Amino acid sequence: MSQGRSPPEVSTPRLNLRAPSLADAPVLGRLADDAGVARMTTGIPHPYPPDAAEGFLDRIGRADPGRQRLFAVEAPDDGFVGLLGFHPNAEGAPELGYWLGRPFWGRGYMTEAVRAAMVWAGGAWGKRFVMSGHFADNPASGRVLIKAGFLYTGDVTPRFSVARGETAPTRMMVWLA
Ligand SMILES: CC(C)(COP(=O)(O)OP(=O)(O)OC[C@H]1O[C@@H](n2cnc3c(N)ncnc32)[C@H](O)[C@@H]1OP(=O)(O)O)[C@@H](O)C(=O)NCCC(=O)NCCS
Repeated sequence: MSQGRSPPEVSTPRLNLRAPSLADAPVLGRLADDAGVARMTTGIPHPYPPDAAEGFLDRIGRADPGRQRLFAVEAPDDGFVGLLGFHPNAEGAPELGYWLGRPFWGRGYMTEAVRAAMVWAGGAWGKRFVMSGHFADNPASGRVLIKAGFLYTGDVTPRFSVARGETAPTRMMVWLA
């Protein structure tokens, strides 16, 4: 992965958001291989194939850094605990996605990570708005986004989840710089 195209490090009181590396693949693959994680995302398959993490990290490393950025979320003592990323949606607008390994849920980590990532996105990355969304049956993610300053747009749109093998109603949200 080319470090020159990587995001800068973003620090929060408890976490470090840094460029992911291929060395994260084993732990990423282990934490992602969880139906409770995968079913709340559009793109994570379940079960998680053995070589999927390396392929994913390799593709991200070659993405256009003006349009797509991925951070590994790192916690003290635990190291890699999850991922947070911005990618262009079907309309080309930046869209936020994230997941945390199950052992690390419920500590306020993702709220802390998203808040810091939005400061970076509106500041150093220069974005004026960011979209996101959560499946209607994932209120915890809705809480994270609300606490990080996202607002519901009112749109509820069906989005396909690879792990579910079907679409799920998705509550869309927007963050304004
Ligand atoms: C959603 C996820 C990122 C939350 O991460 P986290 O670090 O545990 O979140 P936080 O601790 O910062 O905040 C969770 C909030 O959800 C709330 N919550 C948790 N479970 C809930 C539930 N079943 N119903 C309603 N709220 C719930 C918590 O109370 C907390 O809100 P509060 O601070 O207002 O009390 C994590 O559970 C995860 O990765 N899940 C699987 C993947 C996923 O859902 N990704 C997002 C796709 S849109």
